Amino acid sequence: MQKSVRLKSFELIAQDINSVDVSLLHALSIGVGWPHRPKDWDMLRRAGRGIVAVDGIGRVFGSAMWFPHGDDFATIGLVITSPRTQAQGTGRWLMEQVFEQCGDRDLSLNSTHAAYRLYVSLGFTKEAIVYQYQGDVAPKLPPLPELNGQLHELSNDNVEEINALDTRAFGTDRGKLLALLAEGASVCTLRRGDEIVGYSMCREFGRGHVVGPIVASNDQDAIHLTAVHLKDLAGRFARVDTREKGLFAEFLQQSRLAVSETVTTMSKGRRFLNRKNGEPAVYGLAGHAVS
Ligand SMILES: CC(C)(COP(=O)(O)OP(=O)(O)OC[C@H]1O[C@@H](n2cnc3c(N)ncnc32)[C@H](O)[C@@H]1OP(=O)(O)O)[C@@H](O)C(=O)NCCC(=O)NCCS
Repeated sequence: MQKSVRLKSFELIAQDINSVDVSLLHALSIGVGWPHRPKDWDMLRRAGRGIVAVDGIGRVFGSAMWFPHGDDFATIGLVITSPRTQAQGTGRWLMEQVFEQCGDRDLSLNSTHAAYRLYVSLGFTKEAIVYQYQGDVAPKLPPLPELNGQLHELSNDNVEEINALDTRAFGTDRGKLLALLAEGASVCTLRRGDEIVGYSMCREFGRGHVVGPIVASNDQDAIHLTAVHLKDLAGRFARVDTREKGLFAEFLQQSRLAVSETVTTMSKGRRFLNRKNGEPAVYGLAGHAVS
């Protein structure tokens, strides 16, 4: 008797990402070693749009999402194909459908090493490296620089107060996303006089908490806006995704967070990152998928 059998290849159909049970998406991301919980997928499905690749009996083999910010820009994320079906064209096929849905929008994404060649071949160009800092937060944070201004907690009802500052840092109004993120987050602002000059959010995600977005005009402000959350997470797992290398990165290391992975910020269309000295900047990402 023959000890192996070659199965017929099967067809995958693209469906709206909201048409499948969240447990199937969770299984997909677990399969590639990602930390997303079902709750994280739920939030991302509320924030954006996307597709899944489903076989004839409803099994999910792939996903791709996009997050519109205004009419002319979107970020792409949650691009996954299950290991059994990788390197057979599914990733490219999913991306082509996302392009069709995004229309003329300028696009940005954070590419893993595995996906880099695919995105280059689809016309994306490299802009920066994102360092994923994570770990159990030190019991005692390092000494902080002098605080210039006052830190305040911001209630969910007033979250639109950070929109104007965020738009200057991010480059596009992402007020809808910020309101969603803030629902389950603790939000902190830094004020000088009457003006909000920085803010940060901290929410549960994956294995613990993520501090992000973090928006500030200088390293000292960004350190305070991060420390205000990390001090409550002593000994617990936290993550910060940043493109920074200087004092801010040193502060993260001294808080016992270490780089576990890097991804590459890429864009297609207009350049995405446009940091100007003294202007507010994104020190901490909201997440890989939403940037
Ligand atoms: C990245 C990923 C989505 C690619 O999906 P896929 O279904 O394998 O993609 P495709 O089969 O369409 O391959 C796309 C290109 O990448 C190349 N490729 C695929 N897997 C590769 C690998 N492990 N190493 C190097 N190149 C690879 C293929 O050769 C192909 O190039 P070609 O069309 O010129 O031959 C998939 O590997 C994956 O889910 N990885 C884990 C999750 C992840 O990193 N997602 C990306 C988030 S930004």
